[in-house]
Amino acid sequence: MQQSVEANEEAIRAWDGPLFERFVQYRHLLSEGLGEHGEEALRVHPPRAGERVLDIGCGFGETTLRIAELVGPQGAAVGVDAAPRFIEVAQDEASEQGIENVSYAVADVEAGPPAGRFDMAYSRFGTMFFANPVAALRNVRQALAPAGRLVMVVWRSKVENDWVYNAQQITEKFVTKPEEYDEPTCGPGPFSMANADTTSGILLSAGFHAITLRRCDLPVSIGRDLDEAVEFVMSLGPAGEILRLAGERAEHLHEPVAAALREQLGEWLGPDGVIGPASTWIVSASAAPDRDGS
Ligand SMILES: C[S@@+](CC[C@H](N)C(=O)[O-])C[C@H]1O[C@@H](n2cnc3c(N)ncnc32)[C@H](O)[C@@H]1O
Repeated sequence: MQQSVEANEEAIRAWDGPLFERFVQYRHLLSEGLGEHGEEALRVHPPRAGERVLDIGCGFGETTLRIAELVGPQGAAVGVDAAPRFIEVAQDEASEQGIENVSYAVADVEAGPPAGRFDMAYSRFGTMFFANPVAALRNVRQALAPAGRLVMVVWRSKVENDWVYNAQQITEKFVTKPEEYDEPTCGPGPFSMANADTTSGILLSAGFHAITLRRCDLPVSIGRDLDEAVEFVMSLGPAGEILRLAGERAEHLHEPVAAALREQLGEWLGPDGVIGPASTWIVSASAAPDRDGS
């Protein structure tokens, strides 16, 4: 199988480069805060003991390890990610912990069906970045057993996610996304599956049926204190992306942007740090043919 499709190459460069570095820096926030949405999906649609589960866009493989625990020693969890640096960390951590029913592979899911046959495919925020999501999810469906199921967590719209949207609006008062830039970007982006009709349409076209979207509103932690929250939103998410793409041209604006963000984010500061509103879809679908056989 070819390793990646050309249309995803820029996104993969972004994930394996600047985004990997930011994910390493803010891993504690991403895993704990955002992790609750992923955990809720596993609570609502749990993998069963003995099942083989594919984790799409597994990143550091935290959810893959969690799934390995849920399916038990008779089952298996396989994490795939297009960015080799994420997979390297995932493999190292799984072997350090001596987890035997987990494995990982570098793969662009759009380039072909992941190797193996699975009872369930799961993804925590790993399916929004494909240039062609129908092709990628059709590959996932092909890797599923006839009664296999898909469960994925995707962001709802930006306006429902003030934890990043507020920061974007504030940042845009000072600097907007440049028309042209040299930095790689992550493809369609984190909100590409926010529209319920678009997402269910993608899944139907990829051959899935019995599609459900369940709204999940859970606040997320964006910093243990105000300094960290300001740094975090200036590094990741839409505000971070505007500043990254604007590069040196916007460096002189970082101080006033940070000051404005500090004032706004201060409203969410509590004893457990800075916690903002966040909303996702927990999407489920069946690979089983519809009653008409399609
Ligand atoms: C937002 S991160 C989520 C990582 C992980 N699931 C988590 O929750 O921590 C998105 C992940 O999707 C991966 N990804 C992006 N495009 C992909 C593709 N075409 N095939 C496989 N993985 C991809 C990225 O490399 C990145 O690790």
